[in-house]
Amino acid sequence: MPSDPLPEAGRPAAELLAELARLRDADLPVRGGQVTAYVYDTGREAVHDLAATAYQEMLEVNCLDPTAFPSIVALERRIVGAVAGKLGGGSGIFTSGGTESIMLAVKAARDARPVDGTPQIVLPATAHPAFHKAAHYLGLEVVHVPVDDAFRADPAATAAALTPRTVLVVASAPSYPQGVMDPVPEIAAIAASAGVPCHVDACVGGWVLPWLRDAGRDVPPFDLSVPGVTSLSCDLHKYGYSPKGASVVLFADESLRRHAYFASAEWPGYTVINAGVQSSKSAGPLGAAWATLMAVGARGYRELAESAMSAAERLAAGIAGIPGLRVLGEPAAPLVAVASSDPELDVFVVADEARARGWFFQPQLSYQGIPPNLHFTLTGVSDVDALLAALADAVKAARAAGPPDVPSDLVEALAGLDLDSLDDAGFAGLLASVGVDLAGGAEPEMAMVNAILDALPPATREALLIRFLSALYA
Ligand SMILES: Cc1ncc(COP(=O)(O)O)c(C=O)c1O
Repeated sequence: MPSDPLPEAGRPAAELLAELARLRDADLPVRGGQVTAYVYDTGREAVHDLAATAYQEMLEVNCLDPTAFPSIVALERRIVGAVAGKLGGGSGIFTSGGTESIMLAVKAARDARPVDGTPQIVLPATAHPAFHKAAHYLGLEVVHVPVDDAFRADPAATAAALTPRTVLVVASAPSYPQGVMDPVPEIAAIAASAGVPCHVDACVGGWVLPWLRDAGRDVPPFDLSVPGVTSLSCDLHKYGYSPKGASVVLFADESLRRHAYFASAEWPGYTVINAGVQSSKSAGPLGAAWATLMAVGARGYRELAESAMSAAERLAAGIAGIPGLRVLGEPAAPLVAVASSDPELDVFVVADEARARGWFFQPQLSYQGIPPNLHFTLTGVSDVDALLAALADAVKAARAAGPPDVPSDLVEALAGLDLDSLDDAGFAGLLASVGVDLAGGAEPEMAMVNAILDALPPATREALLIRFLSALYA
C-alpha cells in the first residue's frame, strides 16, 4: 500500500487497474464452483459479460429520484413484475439484497399494525440473522421458536409464541443453514388466524424453487399464493445469478408495501422519498439484474435450477459414502449441510484442509443443539465429482491431523474477558496468539478460531466478532 493514501497527482489508469488485480490475488475465485458459498456462477460467460456491460450502462444513474431518471422506474417495474409473476403476485420493491428486503418487510409490518409496547417478531432458530439485524435497527423484540429434528420451524411453538405485541411471523423457504423448507402453509395460517402478517424468507430459494417445480419436482407451496403469506423476499443476486446488489421484496397488499416507504419533508433541501433503506444509489445493479433475467430466460433458469439441484443430490449421495460425514436434514434447494459423525473428525479442520487444496467450504458453528457443520451452496457450475474427491481428501487429512487442540483455559478466559479493556491493537495481539494474523500473510488456520467460537455462547461470539471486524479495519 502506498504510504500516502491519496496521491497529490492522479495515478495512471493502467497502474491502478494492475493494483486492483493484485489486490484481488488473495480473494477467493468468483467463478468455477470451487467456492461453495457467497458466489453464484452460471457457467455462461456471455451472461456475466452482459450483466457487467448493463451495470456499466446504468452505473452513474442515481436511484434517488425516479422522476429525474424514469429508466429506473421502467426497469424496476419489469423486474418486480417478473418476480411477482413467478411467486404468487403482489407488488414490490427492488432492493440491494436480502438484508434490505427483510429490513423493509419488518418495517412495513411494524408500521402497518402498531401495538402497545415493544413490537415482537417471531423467528425460528434457523431464520437468517438479517431478521435479528432488522429487529435491532427497528426496535423490535425477537421471540425465538425452536426447529424440529429435521430443522423445520415448529408450527405449534410458533402459535404458542404469539402475543398481542406480535407484528410479524417468519418462515423460510428454505432456511440457509440446512436448505430445508419451513412448513409455510401451516405457519402462515397460524399467523392469519391471529391477524398477524407472515413473511416468507425466500431470499435463497425464491429464484430456484419455482423453476424446480416447473422442471417437474415436488415443491411445497411457499409463495404469496399461500393464504396468510403477506410478504416475501427473493434475492436475484443468489439463484437469479445477477451481480450483487439485487433482491426483491414482494407484498401481497399494496398498502403494506407503502408502509415500507419513507418520505421526509423535514428539512429545507430536495424532497426525500425512498422505497428502500438507501437514498442515493447506483442503478447499476438494477440494469444488470434486468439484463441477467432477460438473457437467461425461463428455460435457462429451469436448466440452471435443475443442474444445481441434481448436483446437490449427487453431493448428498456421495457424502453417504465418506465415513464420518452425514448430511443434516433433507434439502429442498441446492444447499447441503454436512456434519461429522465421528468425534475424531473435526469439520473445521476439514474446511482448512480443503482450503489448502483450493476449495472453500463454509463453516457453520453449532447452535441450539445443531452440530457444527460445513455448508455447500451448489450452482450451475458445481463439479460434484471434483468436489467429492476434494472433500474425501480433506477428510483423510483432517483425520490424520485430529481436532484442534483448544487450550482448556482459553475458552474460559475469553468468556470472562473484559473486551472494553482492549483496544484494536491489543485484540489483534490476542488473535495473533491463536494464529490469526490480521496483517495478512499466511492463510489463517481457522479451525482453531472456529473451535474456540464454537465453544462460546452466541452473545460472546458476537462480541468477539465485532472486535475482530474493528481490528481488521483499524
Ligand atoms: C435465507 C436467507 N435470507 C437472507 C439472506 C441475506 O441476504 P443478503 O446477504 O443478500 O443480505 C440470506 C443470505 O444468504 C439467506 O440465505
